[in-house]
Amino acid sequence: MGEGSDPICGTRPVDVKGKMHKVANLAGEDRKEAAKSRRSRAKSMINRETAWCLLTEFTQSESLRKHALAVEACMRACSRKFATDPGTSGLSELGFAELGLSPEDLWGIVGLVHDFDYEKYPSLEDHPYKGNEILKQRGWPEVIRRAVMSHAEYTGVTRDTPLEKALFACDELAGFITAVALIKPGKSLVEVDAKSVRKRMKDKAFARKVNREDIVNGAAALGVDLDEHIAFCIEALLGIADKLGLDGSAAKVVGSA
Ligand SMILES: [Fe+2]
Repeated sequence: MGEGSDPICGTRPVDVKGKMHKVANLAGEDRKEAAKSRRSRAKSMINRETAWCLLTEFTQSESLRKHALAVEACMRACSRKFATDPGTSGLSELGFAELGLSPEDLWGIVGLVHDFDYEKYPSLEDHPYKGNEILKQRGWPEVIRRAVMSHAEYTGVTRDTPLEKALFACDELAGFITAVALIKPGKSLVEVDAKSVRKRMKDKAFARKVNREDIVNGAAALGVDLDEHIAFCIEALLGIADKLGLDGSAAKVVGSA
């Protein structure tokens, strides 16, 4: 998935934006051609690689990077279920064309970057406001910035689209499922099911920082049954269990030591 160092990490969306202005200012250039150029160049601005680069530029913590990957996986799965038309992401077809992303990539990228500023700016006064400013400075589109802002209750940014609702419904839940997997004997997602997650949700001492109400309310706002949504997210996380260190290999290493 391109987690390693990649030359594209040196290319920020803002660099491309500057080039776009130059293109638009060329003397005598037909306006339609300029718009076409802008659209095609905009397509290279945001992609999975630039999103990963942004995350890793601001986030060194392995567990925060894993959280980002976990939410990305859940959001990609959600996109296949909910992103049935452009409107579910709050975009028109033209908006999608200009963005140059598939719905799945858009939803995945939103999941990947939603907490990118948290390590550097963890306070309620800063997160995700600082991140939003950075994204704006770098030319990231409104649809992503709005979704990121909406995942924090206290920003007052409402969750209007399935994209925004899915982010909220996956964020805390992905963290909680991960926590449940880590206490299993094999430290593996294979050992986790919706029933064991629901049981742990009732245990107030377990993973105290995870807000249970957010999990319940998130699924309700998305319009899905909580047990089904938990099982759905477990399934999504199983697809990247090795990247999350939840494929049982951690327990094997401990066992063989
Ligand atoms: Fe998060």
